[in-house]
Amino acid sequence: MLVVRSSSLENDILLVKNNDEFKALYLKCTHEGVGLTATDKNIVCSAHGSTFDFKGNVLKEPALRPLQQFQTEVTDENIIIHLI
Ligand code: FES
Repeated sequence: MLVVRSSSLENDILLVKNNDEFKALYLKCTHEGVGLTATDKNIVCSAHGSTFDFKGNVLKEPALRPLQQFQTEVTDENIIIHLI
């Protein structure tokens, strides 16, 4: 896992590698938009306790929707995260 920061985004992105696939999860809670924290087990929201897995799925409410994801692209030496 790697936390990626972009000046064009309010919150960080968590880049997660699962086998040969990369997921870029936006660390913004889908409940009320608070920034999220990644732990070694999951992704948590300190505001009201929502929890997400490393695929972005909700593990614990009150959030109901999965995390926003950005498309990724792997080239020879780079991983590109498409922000739009
Ligand atoms: S803003 Fe994250 S649980 Fe409410």
